[in-house]
Amino acid sequence: MSHLVAPSVLSADFGNLQRDIEMINHSSADWFHVDIMDGVFVPNISFGFPVLKSLQKHAKKPLDVHLMIVDPDRYIRAFKEAGAAVLTVHLEACTHLHRTIQNIKQQGMMAGVALNPHTSVNLLTDVLPDLDLVCLMSVNPGFGGQKFIENTYRKVEQLHAMKKEMGSKALIEIDGGVDFNNYTKLVECGANVLVAGNTVFGASDPSAAITILKNR
Ligand code: DX5
Ligand code: ZN
Repeated sequence: MSHLVAPSVLSADFGNLQRDIEMINHSSADWFHVDIMDGVFVPNISFGFPVLKSLQKHAKKPLDVHLMIVDPDRYIRAFKEAGAAVLTVHLEACTHLHRTIQNIKQQGMMAGVALNPHTSVNLLTDVLPDLDLVCLMSVNPGFGGQKFIENTYRKVEQLHAMKKEMGSKALIEIDGGVDFNNYTKLVECGANVLVAGNTVFGASDPSAAITILKNR
């Protein structure tokens, strides 16, 4: 399977949200990456359900929702209703991660777990078989446009090896600082989904930027 590209809506122009959604609809992007931040788990607040509802109304591709919030269990059902196809929670934010993953799957969504840059992939040993996606944060979560952390390559390789060993089909997603210089190497190391905010929306031609990220 060739890799997927998921533009991050966080970097869109919220004054022209419908225009930016249509751009993604008509581009070669695969998913919409949607960052939900609560100002507690991360030092920033992004947007909530009203914006997500507008997104759901116009988006013609699956919504890949990345929750950077504490106690995400409270909202699993609400995100299903808001149209999430993939729901990703942070390992660092979940006391009963296994239960949270089961709840997401019971609601009929793909279940993802995100790891901060300091969190070892080894902590996934006991849940990897249950996961549809692992999101490796390649920046500290909270903001778009940050610099890619080089140690991520090693984590992708480690996780790729773990997947093989355990027969896991979980997609490896890379989130943060993905650009034209690192995306090829990330895919070569085993990445399956590339999230890109600044590289897409900071480009003079966002749709062309997506096409570049799709073709290595
Ligand atoms: C960071 C978010 C990312 C962010 C990526 O906390 O989870 O999804 O939007 O943006 P770029 O690609 O600009 O680093
Ligand atoms: Zn994200």
